[in-house]
Amino acid sequence: MELTGRQELISIIKERIKREGAIPFRDFMDMALYYPELGYYTSPKEKIGGLGDFFTASELDKVFGELLAKQFGEIYEKLGEKPFQIVEIGAGKGYLAHDILKYLKENLPQVYKNSRYILIEKSPYHIQMQKALLKDFEIVEWFQDIIDFEDESITGVVFSNELFDAFPVHLIRKINGKIYEVYITLEGENTVKEVLKEAPEEITRYLKELNINLPDGMQTEVNLDAKDYIQKIAKKLKKGYVITIDYGYPSAELYKPYRMRGTLLCYHKHRYSENYYQNIGMQDITSHVNFSALKYYGLIAGLDFTGFTDQAHFLTNLGLMEVLAELQERNDLEAFERLNRLKTLVLPKGMGEKFKVLVQHKNVENPIIKGLEMLPYTSDRYKL
Ligand SMILES: C[S@@+](CC[C@H](N)C(=O)[O-])C[C@H]1O[C@@H](n2cnc3c(N)ncnc32)[C@H](O)[C@@H]1O
Repeated sequence: MELTGRQELISIIKERIKREGAIPFRDFMDMALYYPELGYYTSPKEKIGGLGDFFTASELDKVFGELLAKQFGEIYEKLGEKPFQIVEIGAGKGYLAHDILKYLKENLPQVYKNSRYILIEKSPYHIQMQKALLKDFEIVEWFQDIIDFEDESITGVVFSNELFDAFPVHLIRKINGKIYEVYITLEGENTVKEVLKEAPEEITRYLKELNINLPDGMQTEVNLDAKDYIQKIAKKLKKGYVITIDYGYPSAELYKPYRMRGTLLCYHKHRYSENYYQNIGMQDITSHVNFSALKYYGLIAGLDFTGFTDQAHFLTNLGLMEVLAELQERNDLEAFERLNRLKTLVLPKGMGEKFKVLVQHKNVENPIIKGLEMLPYTSDRYKL
């Protein structure tokens, strides 16, 4: 496959392949997304929204942030400790932070006054946008990395929307009962070729620990960065919740035979493809999240499992239907347009079922929170 995209980045990737002979697909993906100044997320280019490559829920309507703010208000009361920290990881353009902060400031001023809102973001381009958008909220700060927190120093909520799907993943294949990892090498000057190497112990251990038995012939992803990250969060949290919103499945569903090519996809100008080696540095590459892994490795690191639901149930529990009813009553053009957008948040074919919400907690008694009250436990798709 011919490499296309940002030439400077391609040269750097080729240099590294020439030096090492072959590199894991994961490292290629990491460079394509996060190489300083040249990667998809680290370079100055519109990514999220109509002029970008994909939409996220925070972009759709302020109600997503408002309902989350209500959830944080409930958690604030439950924990009963000040200062209350809200840590958002991978906040993108900052819209969700904006809607949460605005709601807290106007409707729950006590919570706002006693909170610190900390953003952790890897993209300098997004940090710049966040700083401009959030300049009027006094309680906002930025940290470079989750590891900048002292151990057990966070009391509050650590949350993310579409973070883990943006992590670089190991690509693996099962052939005749054996697990291989996909590496990439060069054939000639500009053509990339995938080669297989025996998977390292860390990957086979992951599959074993999560009881994953892949169908023969399957190519799929293992997100070891997600495993490390949830454990880092666990270490930094003293008391409170971790709320992870993203698209994905329990591992029993993720590795079903009808997903023989896994879930890895590229997004470029709202079109998706499996052309990982094209538009390098100019397109998103993303995979579905294995929520069983977040639960399992979270538990090992001290995060208890609170519940797992989908976005539709979560938002409905938090009062989305009341918001829809109010808009319906208004019967004006703006309300009509918002109603249309809001349907995307809950309809199964939109984000309602595809997006899941995993809630974990540490040192909390009676941990069930409002967003989890009506859990869809009937289907295998929700058993972690
Ligand atoms: C798909 S975007 C989602 C943005 C936003 N949450 C939203 O809903 O629109 C993923 C974001 O996570 C950021 N990101 C990825 N890995 C990260 C990490 N390890 N730490 C902090 N931010 C990260 C990316 O730079 C990007 O801004």
